[in-house]
Amino acid sequence: MTTTRSETGTGENLAETFSQYVPSIEARDIVTIKERYGLLIGGEERQPRDGGSLTTIEPSSGEPLAEIAEAGKADVDDAVTAARAAFEGGWRDLSPRVRAKYVFRLARLIQDRARELAVLESIDGGKPIRESRDIDIPLSAAHFFYHAGWADKLEYAMPGMRVEPLGVVGQIIPWNFPLLMAAWKLAPALACGNTVVLKPAETTSLTALLLGEIVQEADFPPGVLNIVTGAGATGAALVAHGGVDKIAFTGSTGVGKMIGRQLAGTGTRLTLELGGKGAHVVFDDAALDQAIEGIVDGIFFNQGHVCCAGSRLLVQEGIAETLLGRLKRRMDLLRVGDPLDKNTDVGAINSHAQLQRIEEYVGGAASEGCEIHQPDAELPERGFWFLPTLVTGLGGSERIAREEVFGPVLTVQSFRTEAEAVAKANATSYGLSGGVWTEKGSRILWMSQRMKAGVIWANSFNQFDAASPFGGVRESGFGREGGRQGLEEYLRLEPVHS
Ligand code: NAI
Ligand code: MG
Repeated sequence: MTTTRSETGTGENLAETFSQYVPSIEARDIVTIKERYGLLIGGEERQPRDGGSLTTIEPSSGEPLAEIAEAGKADVDDAVTAARAAFEGGWRDLSPRVRAKYVFRLARLIQDRARELAVLESIDGGKPIRESRDIDIPLSAAHFFYHAGWADKLEYAMPGMRVEPLGVVGQIIPWNFPLLMAAWKLAPALACGNTVVLKPAETTSLTALLLGEIVQEADFPPGVLNIVTGAGATGAALVAHGGVDKIAFTGSTGVGKMIGRQLAGTGTRLTLELGGKGAHVVFDDAALDQAIEGIVDGIFFNQGHVCCAGSRLLVQEGIAETLLGRLKRRMDLLRVGDPLDKNTDVGAINSHAQLQRIEEYVGGAASEGCEIHQPDAELPERGFWFLPTLVTGLGGSERIAREEVFGPVLTVQSFRTEAEAVAKANATSYGLSGGVWTEKGSRILWMSQRMKAGVIWANSFNQFDAASPFGGVRESGFGREGGRQGLEEYLRLEPVHS
């Protein structure tokens, strides 16, 4: 018997709705890409006053897609001024219930335009449509829904505290999850009553700009969200501006550290979500089939452009050979290619610069004596591509064993005891994520108490939820996004004495 969607009664399920949909050539037609995009300042699209423009590329072809504005210092200043005016001119004093309605409406409109957002995300950034469609866009909407719910309950979230928004927040986001990172940052900021100047990443600004249009459609007061596109210099101008109450940054550890030094002592609040080098630890009692799926998802999801990727596999000695054999066979099945093909597992590398970085790491590992394994597959001729890769034969001191590659590259080491697994897992300066695969509950607790990471997954990997706080320790940064904890990052809290 065949079951139709209406019979299952789950037609409301976003992922299921989308699985009926076959994006291919005609999928491109559902998005309109303009030749040139401006900045969003004070509710209006504007060309830069003192900046230039840059070209956003389609990674799967390497061809130009559109020109986007590059905001200069004067434009950043205009955006901060507009955000301040919107904050003081009413957004701050709006009833929390009304604020909640705005955020809720935004969440609904993102759902309404989910297909368009998903296709645009895959075209501009190179990620498989299956991921943008089932993960990035639904999770973005979920973040707005979740935070809309908090907007009028902040006093309950922070008992005994007087709760105030911070004011104007500058948010600088990366290119790996363009819309989702915008949502992670915007949803709590707006729900808590702040206004925002958002700086998208230079290779992937289009969905943020479409979100800007959706915010206008949702009738937000002008200046509550301003978008300044541009590269590092635009981000640096926002950090150096001095008129923002907080900077929230997600990106490389190098830039994050620089921002930290720059803001030290200024009173500007700061949260940093930086790189990672997550360890995926598999014990010999683990359910191997599931572990292999978790490992594959942990490193090949989004071409490995994931700060919390499980990029270091640590496997217990007794099962190492079996696991690696099966992992290689599984990797042979991964389909690398057209991001708009719904059967694609691994899409295009986000930019030429990132491809070069990945090639340099893997080339370096080979010259340091490591073995490199890749499936025997053909890559498209045009565009930026890198095959899923395993690196074995590591000593542990190689660059690839310690630094973030941010590509579909998994290093493999073995361990004998739990203590050795912990020592190897912690042998990096990062501390964002980790995974443990074992049937023993006590071992999961023992390991997660000792692994230095902000998030540890047990017998799973890459699970995200708006209600769950996400963030790092050590050089992976500080501050949390999501959950009740994430709200605190956008609020000024004062104890109430009575
Ligand atoms: P990046 O840190 O330069 O870029 C992230 C964002 O920061 C972008 O919006 C960029 O325009 C902005 N930015 C750059 N320089 C800035 C500055 N001086 N002041 C303020 N904002 C600035 O990262 P990039 O160069 O794109 O990638 C390099 C490496 O960084 C990757 O290979 C990866 O290892 C890591 N990375 C990690 C991310 C994460 O989610 N943890 C995200 C992006 C990159
Ligand atoms: Mg692009």
